[in-house]
Amino acid sequence: MAMAKTRYIWMDGKFVEWEDARIHIMSHVIHYGTGVFEGLRCYDTPNGSVIFRLKEHTDRLFNSAKIYRMEIPYTRDEINNVTVELIKKNCLKAAYVRPIAYRGYAELGVNPFPCPVSVTVATLQWGKYLGDEALENGVDVMISSWNRMAPNTLPAMAKCCANYMNSQLIKMEAMLYGFAEGIALDNTGYVSEGSGENLFAIRDGIIYTPPLHASILPGITRHTVMSIARDMGFEVVQEKLNREFLYLADEVFFTGSAAEITPIRSVDKITVGQGKAGPMTKKLQKKFFDIIEGRAPDKYNWLTRVE
Ligand SMILES: Cc1ncc(COP(=O)(O)O)c(C=O)c1O
Repeated sequence: MAMAKTRYIWMDGKFVEWEDARIHIMSHVIHYGTGVFEGLRCYDTPNGSVIFRLKEHTDRLFNSAKIYRMEIPYTRDEINNVTVELIKKNCLKAAYVRPIAYRGYAELGVNPFPCPVSVTVATLQWGKYLGDEALENGVDVMISSWNRMAPNTLPAMAKCCANYMNSQLIKMEAMLYGFAEGIALDNTGYVSEGSGENLFAIRDGIIYTPPLHASILPGITRHTVMSIARDMGFEVVQEKLNREFLYLADEVFFTGSAAEITPIRSVDKITVGQGKAGPMTKKLQKKFFDIIEGRAPDKYNWLTRVE
């Protein structure tokens, strides 16, 4: 997927042209992965553009920074306002938004403290993450030979740049084996998550998802789906899941800001349920897009309007 660039990037307090958004090669982040970031979407709807769960994404950015003892030199409100401004300045109706806080350069040692924290917000035009047909027809996935980070190694609750080296191992393996995505197990052998998505499985009408202690990122789409599912009267259980639970599930799907709600039609070449988007997945997808596109009330205040 080529990067469709947009005109401006907000960098350390200024809107700069795309080509001018540069950092020095000796920045700490380049050498040691010293950064935390977010990924969120702005949707073009009949009622104007809306950013989905901006506040929660900014909160998670600050939480990731807190874990890594990084002081972000802006307030949450400033980051939120800048995001809205940037979308407007770039004349975008729909966008993928990428805020990132990272350490620049001062010293090259591992100790990050001398290196200043920079913040950048960029916007991209980005289509469907797992392919145009994925939302409709589902994707084929494999269980990765790579595990997610063990507890007390790299914190899974932080959306930190370095964690995505693990994600890349999972993703590369899956793609080279002909799958759209890989699902990693945690270090105890239970299901964790995809390289960039959380996971849900449905069996006998009950919705299951791995808990935070299965080395998952606390996904905002995961939280969204749990909320709307409970609202619709479904039971949602956070529980460690065996690999074979996915084979025997009636429905399995990914959630993520990039992947939205993507059905999984097979795992390790074993067909899941009917091998297409199942009825509960479809109901959840419908409710999700009804809220985003303004057909259902925004009762949780999830949408930020870009006037
Ligand atoms: C590893 C990982 N898990 C889960 C998710 C889904 O999180 P969210 O729904 O907040 O985008 C992402 C995407 O940010 C991710 O990178």
